[in-house]
Amino acid sequence: MIKKYYIIIIGITLISCSQTNVSTTSNNSQEQFIDSILSTMSIDDKIGQTNLRGTSSRAKTLSEELKEDVRQGKVGALLNVMKVEFVDELQKIAVEESPNKIPLIFARDVVHGFKTIFPIPIGLASSWDTEIAESSSRVAAIEASSVGIRWTFAPMLDIARDSRWGRIAESPGEDPYLASVLGKAYIKGFQGDSLNNPTSIAACAKHYIGYGAVIGGRDYNTTIIPEPLLRNVYLPPFKAALDIDVATVMTSFNEINGIPATGNEFLLKDVLRDELKFNGFVVSDWDSVIEMIAHGYAKDEKHAGELAANAGMDMEMTSKTYENHLKKLIQEGKVSEQQLNEFVKNILRVKLKLGLFKTPYRDKKNEANFYKKEHLSIAKEAAIKSSVLLKNKDLLPLSKNTKVALIGPLANAPLDQMGTWTFDGEKEHTVTPLEAFKKANVDFKYIPSLTHSRDQSTSEFKKTINSVKNSDVIVFIAGEEAILSGEAHSRASIDLPGAQESLIKELAKTGKPIVLVIMAGRPITISNIINDVDAILMSWHPGTMGGSALQEIIYGLREPEGRLPLSWPKAAGQLPYFYNHKNTGRPANKEDYVSMYDIPVGAWQSSLGNDSHYLDIGYKPQFPFGYGLGYTDFKYSNLQISKDTINFKENLMVNISITNTGKRPGKEIVQLYTQDVVGSITRPIRELKGFEHIYLNNGETKEVTFKISAEKLKFTNHKNVNTAEEGDFNLWVGPNSSSGLKSSFYLKKK
Ligand code: NOJ
Repeated sequence: MIKKYYIIIIGITLISCSQTNVSTTSNNSQEQFIDSILSTMSIDDKIGQTNLRGTSSRAKTLSEELKEDVRQGKVGALLNVMKVEFVDELQKIAVEESPNKIPLIFARDVVHGFKTIFPIPIGLASSWDTEIAESSSRVAAIEASSVGIRWTFAPMLDIARDSRWGRIAESPGEDPYLASVLGKAYIKGFQGDSLNNPTSIAACAKHYIGYGAVIGGRDYNTTIIPEPLLRNVYLPPFKAALDIDVATVMTSFNEINGIPATGNEFLLKDVLRDELKFNGFVVSDWDSVIEMIAHGYAKDEKHAGELAANAGMDMEMTSKTYENHLKKLIQEGKVSEQQLNEFVKNILRVKLKLGLFKTPYRDKKNEANFYKKEHLSIAKEAAIKSSVLLKNKDLLPLSKNTKVALIGPLANAPLDQMGTWTFDGEKEHTVTPLEAFKKANVDFKYIPSLTHSRDQSTSEFKKTINSVKNSDVIVFIAGEEAILSGEAHSRASIDLPGAQESLIKELAKTGKPIVLVIMAGRPITISNIINDVDAILMSWHPGTMGGSALQEIIYGLREPEGRLPLSWPKAAGQLPYFYNHKNTGRPANKEDYVSMYDIPVGAWQSSLGNDSHYLDIGYKPQFPFGYGLGYTDFKYSNLQISKDTINFKENLMVNISITNTGKRPGKEIVQLYTQDVVGSITRPIRELKGFEHIYLNNGETKEVTFKISAEKLKFTNHKNVNTAEEGDFNLWVGPNSSSGLKSSFYLKKK
């Protein structure tokens, strides 16, 4: 025993001295330190490190049982301990009284802000802006670390192609490239320059993997993902996250091709560790280990633990199969102690990188660093950059003296405006559109008419219609309450809920122009009302400063800067829908499309003109991926490529001129797409390969240059070979995924 403590103290001292900057500490000395601790640990101590204990953030007292478990080294990390006194007390017990004096990590779902809430992730994804994504997660890390949180379960990197899925709100959208660049930015913001900095928090790339592909958008459902699809669409954001050293990865709830992700050796060992060289730790999702029983993959808890352990899952969230069964499983030879040692090493490595051995306690200088002026200003900027203007019949922006009728259930809904996964943001700090309009002193009257988004009552309609008569313009703030999206909150119909559509239709009859603002956790199908309104602005759930951002956009102090990170569907029946689909043998096209109302009654069945479409809504989304308007217009011209043919070592330079042809300065997101025309497996009709933000004064022209190399054109084929293939490529540069100027080139092997 004496020897054991002696070694640890030496080890800790050693690392304390060298840890002023862990990034400069050699990997060897880190590994030696980890090995020295490991060599002193009993099997029970090791199992303790794999235990992520869940607690309730509302707990008023610290239970003696929890303290005792920490004292005995039975806990490696804690989730949702939200009183700073409790964090300090538990950490003190861990570092002073537990057998190996190993510090705890305190975790929390800090998803899109801690106290200062930023737009929900699908909103932030609409910014296509890595700087704002990084600053938002930096602010979240500063605020969260001030109360002792050093680990967040974010970013969620699940590609989502189905807006019925409630968690699309948390997703980076449908495109692997956009998701990869944004994911990296979030991680940089959370983890800072070095994890060792007390305001840095370990990020968690989740949910590994395929969670967004759940059948029918029903949460937790089955996924069927062939390996090339996994590697070409779902894996890239995770690979990007590992490229910049994300500290942790969370397994997903779903099964993939019959094997739950949490017990999936191929995914966790072959891909994540052997191929992608991940050296942080993997955490299961909440109870996802024991859920393998309900999946029909494990026969009982012990078996679930065995499957997870042998698959290479390091830390168990909330369920206790490791705590209760791992020792026995090792004694029975069903799991090797070597495997457990690997888990502990992976976990200690992250604790070490976080600097916890040297500085286990929160930085008191950073205490309660909430809602600072610069945090709020980043939140407002993020909301402006996330807002997507979908329609504008010369209505927006409004002039300050326009008489506005401000209507709708989300015009003053401070809680809902923050969106899903907001545990710590307080509605008292939220600026709603109503408050922002008041503060800006614009000419408006507020008539809520519906109390919440699901309100079915039409009792206020008459009064509302009478009172808009003296207004020039109606600003209707519609949408979904926060609780209608997020985990387990999928919807089969994604129209505006309650009586919102009926009210919009009634208001349209007054002849007053209508600006429809949508605050929601997903795209909302608007086919029934799109012609009743003159402008449509999507603000997603825009967070703490959403009201101020909207007020500035509506009155033209700023323009909406977002572009869609997904295809906006016409109807839920069209889902899943994504722009980067394959062509099929019968691609849909305008010439062949016949609407069901144009088919003669009694028509013979014939295969002429049959292609891949719906008889009732056609084959296009309401708005394509990448789409969004601003307050000015841009002209794309003079697309030029540097060569017609490039080899595998050459770059193709793509040049285009963009002119602001409108009346005010504005921003454009110039997008580059390619198509690999013929492949050894069929290839998407377009794939995003790059984008640039440009700001142009009215009348100004700028050139934008993109670089394409064979590296960018690689994909994984049916033989699991990742390569670019010789052949013809098309490329487009344009404002969204369904337009742009086109060119083509040839990629040749030699
Ligand atoms: C379940 C969710 O799927 C996951 O994203 C979250 O991080 C955990 N619960 C912890 O709250």
